[in-house]
Amino acid sequence: MSNRHVDYVDDVLPGHGALPPRTWYAASSAASLSLNGSWRLRLSPTADAEDESFAAEGFDAGDWPEVRVPGHWVLQGDGAFGAPVYTNHLYPFPVDPPYVPTENPTGDHLRTFDLPDDWPGEAAGGGAVLRFDGVESCARVWLNGTDLGEFKGSRLPHEFAVGSLLKPTGNVLAVRVHQWSSGSYLEDQDQWWLPGIFRDVTLLHRPAGCVLDFFTHASYDHTTGLGTLRVDSDVDGRVIVPELGVDAATGEPVTVPVEPWTAETPRLYAGELVTEGERVPLRIGFRTVVLEDGLIKVNGVPVLFKGVNRHEWHPEHGRTLDLDTMRRDVALMKSHHVNAVRTSHYPPHPAFLDLCDEYGLWVIDECDLETHGFVEQDWRDNPVDDDRWTPALLDRAARMVERDKNHPSVVMWSLGNEAGTGRGLTAMAEWIRGRDPERLVHYEGDINCRDTDVYSRMYASHAEVEKIGKGLDGGTDRRRGLPFILCEYAHAMGNGPGGLADYQRLFETYDRLQGAFVWEWIDHGIADERYGYAYGGDFGEELHDGNFVCDGLLFPDRTPTPGLLEFKKVIEPVRIEVDGPAGTVRVGNRHDFRDLSHLVFAWSYQVDGETVETGSLSVPPLAAGESTEVKLPAPPVDAPGTESQWTVRALDADEREVAWGQGVSTPRPVPRPATGARPVHGAGLITLGPATFDPRTGELRTVGRIAVTAPRLDVWRAPTDNDAGASWQDDVRLGEQWRKLGLHRMRHRLDSVEATDDALTVRGRVAPAGRDLGLRTVYRWTSDGTALRLTVSVAPEGEWPVALPRLGVRFGLPEGASRVRWFGGGPGEAYPDTRQASALGLWHDDVDALQTPYVFPQENGARADVRWAEIGGLRIEGDPEFWFTARRWTTEQLDAATHRTDLVPGDTVWVNLDHAQQGIGSQSCGPGPLPRYQLVARAAEFAFTFTEVGGD
Ligand code: GAL
Repeated sequence: MSNRHVDYVDDVLPGHGALPPRTWYAASSAASLSLNGSWRLRLSPTADAEDESFAAEGFDAGDWPEVRVPGHWVLQGDGAFGAPVYTNHLYPFPVDPPYVPTENPTGDHLRTFDLPDDWPGEAAGGGAVLRFDGVESCARVWLNGTDLGEFKGSRLPHEFAVGSLLKPTGNVLAVRVHQWSSGSYLEDQDQWWLPGIFRDVTLLHRPAGCVLDFFTHASYDHTTGLGTLRVDSDVDGRVIVPELGVDAATGEPVTVPVEPWTAETPRLYAGELVTEGERVPLRIGFRTVVLEDGLIKVNGVPVLFKGVNRHEWHPEHGRTLDLDTMRRDVALMKSHHVNAVRTSHYPPHPAFLDLCDEYGLWVIDECDLETHGFVEQDWRDNPVDDDRWTPALLDRAARMVERDKNHPSVVMWSLGNEAGTGRGLTAMAEWIRGRDPERLVHYEGDINCRDTDVYSRMYASHAEVEKIGKGLDGGTDRRRGLPFILCEYAHAMGNGPGGLADYQRLFETYDRLQGAFVWEWIDHGIADERYGYAYGGDFGEELHDGNFVCDGLLFPDRTPTPGLLEFKKVIEPVRIEVDGPAGTVRVGNRHDFRDLSHLVFAWSYQVDGETVETGSLSVPPLAAGESTEVKLPAPPVDAPGTESQWTVRALDADEREVAWGQGVSTPRPVPRPATGARPVHGAGLITLGPATFDPRTGELRTVGRIAVTAPRLDVWRAPTDNDAGASWQDDVRLGEQWRKLGLHRMRHRLDSVEATDDALTVRGRVAPAGRDLGLRTVYRWTSDGTALRLTVSVAPEGEWPVALPRLGVRFGLPEGASRVRWFGGGPGEAYPDTRQASALGLWHDDVDALQTPYVFPQENGARADVRWAEIGGLRIEGDPEFWFTARRWTTEQLDAATHRTDLVPGDTVWVNLDHAQQGIGSQSCGPGPLPRYQLVARAAEFAFTFTEVGGD
């Protein structure tokens, strides 16, 4: 049975009553009034639980609670307004398009407003428009009791003409918002379902003769250096760009010498569109985007995207972002060398694109369209292949293109994400091409590139990407002639992503590979007192995908993760390769457009990590793509027994580091073995040099005055999200395999304790219950009287079907151990395939700061290439270098934790000294670590020397 009043909710049509879509601009000479602020909210469990009388003038909503607009009601009211729901691709309601459940949380929003005193009166003519920048998922609007219409398309703007309805005071704006609608079938993005009026609501005065819609065409001819500007406007007027001496009629092209806009040089010219009734500021960037020679070229130059996928996220406000937060995102991207952003998976708040124009980012603007849940039924009934839905799809395409067409940063339109294939997508592509032939069209799901200008994929392995780079991937003729991008790769969930440098090498080797976009920019954790940050399932959702929603390069509070620092290093715009023995540096300019004249170069020379000399390095202002070799000064004479290195850095005018490179000058000397002392049996103890041991077990008890929990072989790490892999992958999912083998519950058998003249030797076998495989282990302790050396020999027995998590020893120190100093890789964590950002140096931190607070706790915090580390009064030297980790909880506790708040410091500091670590990869959605980063179980020997040095 249908209810007439809410039929629009599951009608496939996009709505009615709204004005045709047009361009969005933040500023104008016309008056405007923000209707953001405190609104009244009445929440009902169904779409039609309440009648529409609340929209009438005079309705008293005085006892309704207040809600912040823009905002999502489920993130307000301390749980009184329902809760967020997270699913990746499953629809959280029965799939029966276009119908949605009767249980359809519906928020009646109400506010009154007066026009400001200076609001132009009727005498000034014109009208007014009410603009909604984003409402999830369906809204019906009344002003002063008049029904204006209803709309869907959550992340798209909708405007209504309201001039004739306005009163100087006491205007009543009523908006009924339904969480679910037919539109929800088109908005199945991997994210929280968050209903509400989550973007701005604005009343715009529309004076007589005002600007309606306009389209700025600003191209750049790289062969002549000339730009051509033409502003097409629905209302005739003039286009004024004082800096260029332009004062032209709308629709009239003007060609002048200009500096082009690129993401590296975001040159904008301030102009104005002047019609009889309005002046609208223009920000003009001259650039030309073409597909030529099978490549995406801007201003004649093929570009390499070093991109990220950005969802809009704020840990308290969800997809409601203020301008500062948007600016922070852009500033963080720029300072980490990101040059491109895909607005996954919907057009962002329009102000974000203004920032992209201003700071310089290539943008793939993606339409608010995903129907991923239909994959569960083999795409049957997919709306994008059903003509009844095509008007809704075209409406979405038009609202995106019309809104965002004046941004120079937008170089590609994306039809949407994971929506299968179908006629509706083709119709969208055709409409977009007709409206804006000056940009390219993207859609990853179009595997044969029927409708698109770029072959785009997600999560392809290195090997496949290389094949594509070489043009050996086959496919249709059309596809073979197109450039390739990875619109998603390097799944940044938890610890990782691994393998970034290996991808980058491919992108830089093969012209066809024009770069990639990391999935994704920020973790969508929700600030929550119970957990630190909540993720899927924390609100009792019946269907959810857990912490798959936390897979960003930023933590929810926008602190960069180690993954972002790694990405920064991998994509830095200058490559600096130091060849210490040759005394040279190779400098490569990896910009697409910019020369290096804005940078200065500095060298420093470190002996055992300590900088002893510094100087500047003269590097020619290389043009984009060029490289050169520069001579380093003669190195200082190193004292015998020291290790030395060069560090070369490129700095910008504010002395910010843009790029760096290091190279060995004198390699690390082989550490001195500590031998000579003999083990002595005492009263219930064996003493060897500074150490005492349990004579029965051979376990180390003390080193000098420091009591320790004895070191023993350790192979377990709390699986990372990437170790765990994604449930749908048939490949080896390591976390599962490890547990199946029992690597998290290894047993330590003691075979013998043997004191000889020069050593205490403890033999044993480390193996899991129920399996015949194991690791024969020999701990050989020696000393020179002062230092204590442990040599560990490991020999695997049986068939080891998978890589080991780690291989090393772990021991415990009293809780007072806090400060850590080390000479090795730092300052942050590193793993075999995430170690580019790890710089060799002398570092210090305390144990708490060594932890990387992944929203879902997991292995973290290892420091690479450690020569020596000091902690708890002990100095530990590695032979060879080792991976160092210290934490106030055990690996088992870390493994058991599901939220940050589960990690509670105990009374022991657990230290892992690892000879090797398994790589990280990005198998939480993509490929696992490359073979060369796998920790294959094989015989190994490694040693550590312990010396008491005092301090904490
Ligand atoms: C992709 C999808 C993204 C996200 C990602 C995994 O398939 O496009 O929206 O779900 O996988 O995090």
